[in-house]
Amino acid sequence: MNRTLGVCYYPEHWPEDQWAEDAAQMVATGLTWVRIGEFGWSRMEPTPGHFTWDWLDRAIDVLGGAGLKIILGTPTATPPRWMVDKHPDMLAVDAQGHPRKFGSRRHYDFSHLGYREECRRIAEIMGKRYGENPHIAAWQIDNEYDCHDTTLSYSDAARKGFQDWLAQKYQSPDALNRAWGNVFWSMEYDSFDQIDLPNLTVTEPNHPHQLAFQRYSSDQVVAFNKVQADVLRRHSDAPLIHNYMGRITTFDHWKVGADLDIASWDSYPIGFLSDRLEGTPEFKQAFLRQGHPDMQAFHHDLYRAVGKGRLWVMEQQPGPVNWAPYNPAPLPGMARLWAWEAFAHGAETVCYFRWRQAPFAQEQMHAGLLRPDSAPAPALAEARQVADEIADLPNAGTARSQAALVFDYESAWAWNAQPQGADFEMFRLAFAAYGALRRAGLNVDILPPDVADLSDYKLVLAPGIMRLSDPLRAALGRFEGIALIGPRSDTKTDELAIPTPLGPDLPGLDISVTLTESMPPADAIPLTEGGTFRHWFEHLEGNAPVLAKTASGQPAIMGSDHLRYLAGWPDPDTFDMIVSATCAELGLTTTKLPDGLRVRDTDTHRFYFNYTTAPLTWEGTTIPAAGVHWEPLT
Ligand code: GAL
Repeated sequence: MNRTLGVCYYPEHWPEDQWAEDAAQMVATGLTWVRIGEFGWSRMEPTPGHFTWDWLDRAIDVLGGAGLKIILGTPTATPPRWMVDKHPDMLAVDAQGHPRKFGSRRHYDFSHLGYREECRRIAEIMGKRYGENPHIAAWQIDNEYDCHDTTLSYSDAARKGFQDWLAQKYQSPDALNRAWGNVFWSMEYDSFDQIDLPNLTVTEPNHPHQLAFQRYSSDQVVAFNKVQADVLRRHSDAPLIHNYMGRITTFDHWKVGADLDIASWDSYPIGFLSDRLEGTPEFKQAFLRQGHPDMQAFHHDLYRAVGKGRLWVMEQQPGPVNWAPYNPAPLPGMARLWAWEAFAHGAETVCYFRWRQAPFAQEQMHAGLLRPDSAPAPALAEARQVADEIADLPNAGTARSQAALVFDYESAWAWNAQPQGADFEMFRLAFAAYGALRRAGLNVDILPPDVADLSDYKLVLAPGIMRLSDPLRAALGRFEGIALIGPRSDTKTDELAIPTPLGPDLPGLDISVTLTESMPPADAIPLTEGGTFRHWFEHLEGNAPVLAKTASGQPAIMGSDHLRYLAGWPDPDTFDMIVSATCAELGLTTTKLPDGLRVRDTDTHRFYFNYTTAPLTWEGTTIPAAGVHWEPLT
C-alpha cells in the first residue's frame, strides 16, 4: 500500500494568481493530494441554473497541472442562499421546533426530497463535467454528515417521511401499537398520519418511537448519500469517499460505507480532548497538546472497517482549531505523530486541514500549514518530514488483529433513548473496552454487528449490543477463541422491549439478566479478585458456570471456555485485568504499556507512539516525547 499526504484547499478563497505558487509549494512539500470544492456551491451556481465553472476548471488545471491529484467535493453541505428561497421548507428544525437558519452551513434537512433532488442535480452536472478529467482522482460526497447535530430534524418533511417509513415497516397501526407497546399510557394510534415526531412531549416519548425515528433518520442519511454516489458512479471511475467525524453515532456508518469505496474521517485530536471526551482535569491537562492516546486509533480502526479495508484521514489537525472550548497548539511533533499513527492503522492518505489559514470568516482562528500571510506555520515542516519518511519506508499492509470489538450504531440509539444511567452511552462503553485492548498492546479490528465469521480472531468483545444479530449469534456458537459479551448485551428485542425468556440468548449457555442497576460515578461494586464495576451492573442467574464474582458473591462473569457474559462495566484497571487474564488463557501475549504509550504492528513493522510530554523507554526502546518510532518486525 502506497502512503500519501494531501491537503484541503479552497481556491475560491484566494486570488487566482496565487494558485500556481500554492500548487508548486504543495508539491515541494511532498503532498500528493489536494481536496477542493466541498463548500463552493455559491461560486459554481451563483443563481439557479446559471453555472460558472470557469474558475473551477482553471483551478483543476493549475493544481492538476502541477502534478497534484484532486479530490473533488460535492458542495451539498453548503446550499447557497437562493436555494433556501427556492425551498423555504428545506431548513432543518431543531428539537425545540426552531428552524435552523441560513448563515453558516449544513442548513438542510435530510428528509427534504426537493433538496435531495437539487443535490442529485449538482452531483450529476459535476460528474458529467469532471468525471473523466484525469486530474480528478477521487470524490468526496458532501461534508461531515451530522456535523453541528444535523442528522435529526423535526421538520414537516421529516414527519411526513417518518409516517411513510412507519407505514411501510409496520403495515398497520395495530401492528405498530403492538410492537411499541402503545397500550401503555393510552398511546395507541388509529392511523399513521397521527404519529408525530418524538419531540416536545411532556415527559419522555416511548423508547421504540425514539428508536424508530433514529432508524428512519439514519436511513435518510444513507439515501441522501446514495443518490449522489449512484449519479457519480455513472460518470466517474474514481473512488467515492465521505469524511466522517469522531464520536458521531447518530447514523449507521456501516450502511453509508456500503455505498462508498473508501471511508475517511476528520481527525482533530486536541479539539476532541477539549470538546468531546470525558476525563479528569489531570488527564486532560496531561494530554492537552497531544490528544487522547486512543481516540485517533479507535476511529482509524472503526473507519478502516467501515471503508471495507480502505481508510483515509481527510482532515488532520495542523495547529490550534477554533471550535473547541479551549484551543491550545499541538506539541511540536504531534502533526507528524498523528499522520504516522494513521498510516500504522492502515490509512492510505492523510490530508492536513487546511493549506493556508483564512484571515476572514468563522474559521479565521483555525491554523493551517501556512499562516494567513503565507509564511510557513509549524505543521508545514512536519508534513514535509512525513513526506520524506513515507518515501523511505517500504509499503506495508495492515496486520490482521487477534482482538476484535463489535460496534453497533443501533445500540447507540437504543441506549440514548433508554440510558437508564445518566452516563451510559454506547461510544463511552465501546471506547472503554477498546482502551483496555490497546493498553495491553493489542492490534484491534472493529466489526459490524452482523459479522458472520469470527474465525480470524482469538478475543472478541461485544459490549452494549442491544440484540445480537443472527449471524453474530451463530458465529459465537462456533467461536474457538474467547468472546466476552456484555455488559448490557442481548437483553432487548429489536423494539427495545425486554424479551421473555430473558436475555441474553447465548448459544449453549443458560444465563439471564434478571435485574439491572446503574450507579452514580462515586459508587463502585468490588470484585473478589480485585477491581470494580462502575456505572452499570446486571444481576445474572442461570446454570452456566460462574467464572468471577463480586465481593458480595454475585456473578460478575458467567459462561464457558469460549463464550462469556460480563455483568458490569469494569473501571479501566479492571478492564485491563480482564483483558490480560483472558489473553493469558488464550496464549495471547499482552503487556501493560506505560501511560500514553501505544504500539501498533503493520505487516512489516512495529510502531510506537509516545503521547506524553517526556521521552519514554520501554523494553529497551526509547521513544521521544510527542514522538513516533518504528522498527522492523523480526
Ligand atoms: C471540520 C470540517 C471543516 C472545518 C474543520 C475545522 O469539521 O469538515 O470544514 O470546519 O472541521 O476544524
